[in-house]
Amino acid sequence: MQRRPRRNRKSESVRNLVEETQVSVKDLIFPLFLVDGQKKQIEVASMPGIFRFSTDLMLKEIEECMKLGIYSFDVFPAYPESLKDAVASESYNPETFYLKALREIKKQFPEVCLMSDVAMDPYSSDGHDGLVKNGKILNDETLEILGKMSLAQADAGVDILGPSDMMDGRVGYIRDLLDENGFIDTSIMSYTAKYASAFYGPFRDALDSAPKFGDKKTYQMNPANAKEALIEADLDVEEGADFLMVKPALSYLDIIKQLSDNYPLPIAAYNVSGEYSMVKAAAEKGWLDYDRSMNEILLSIKRAGAKIILTYFAKDFAKNPC
Ligand code: PBG
Repeated sequence: MQRRPRRNRKSESVRNLVEETQVSVKDLIFPLFLVDGQKKQIEVASMPGIFRFSTDLMLKEIEECMKLGIYSFDVFPAYPESLKDAVASESYNPETFYLKALREIKKQFPEVCLMSDVAMDPYSSDGHDGLVKNGKILNDETLEILGKMSLAQADAGVDILGPSDMMDGRVGYIRDLLDENGFIDTSIMSYTAKYASAFYGPFRDALDSAPKFGDKKTYQMNPANAKEALIEADLDVEEGADFLMVKPALSYLDIIKQLSDNYPLPIAAYNVSGEYSMVKAAAEKGWLDYDRSMNEILLSIKRAGAKIILTYFAKDFAKNPC
């Protein structure tokens, strides 16, 4: 036998030499859930180990994460029903707790990379990412609302805006508006290929943001399709996105690979709530080894071509990297 591939696996030191992919804590963005009030830390029932924090405790959490080497955070707000309306007006109220918290985080920790979410769902009485009229999600009318929300978040000091709404034309619309208002350094990480996925379930529990009727299939992509992701990516590049994101990650590794092979922009992947909760639940039952499963998942996403991973595993990974 001339060829014995096992020779390159014969010892840990040789395996280390031929190892192609590493995940670093530098690649990770940790999503955090924010609630109004003080001294609140409420575990999300369907996401063990993940909490909704009030601003004071979120600042402590961020400080703790920084000690572990995590410097990037994506903050999502959970709003009470009483503050939601059809046009998401709370999203650009300068006094709203979300914007105040973003401002406070940047003030206390200017060195962190702070990301925010641009979509109507946490503030919408319809629970949809866009404006609803007669049961339909209106595209162009939604852009105006997303624009106001983006300016308010940029003004609060956010480093990267994350439009997660999947309306057509929103990246270009937001980019122009940011530039016109002097926010030339505010980046956009577009949710380029965001699929209509069952794996967002626990996230919608965390934010109480599930749609009140129907589903998100007229704006989020069909899980059966890959080519559309290339159309979305072409548009995002033309419209000035700084990063392209694929979401979810695990069932869409082929899409991550395609974008990474075809576009020079950094590719991000969102390892979503359901992907975290599956592993947590199985590990709690003793059916999976949590650390090894987490490491293998993050490695697979990186190997597929994502430079950046948004993941609820961030803190556990930082404590116990592969
Ligand atoms: C909202 C948004 C969602 C997620 C991120 N931003 C949910 C959705 O589109 O319904 C999901 C994240 C996760 O599941 O971890 N536009």
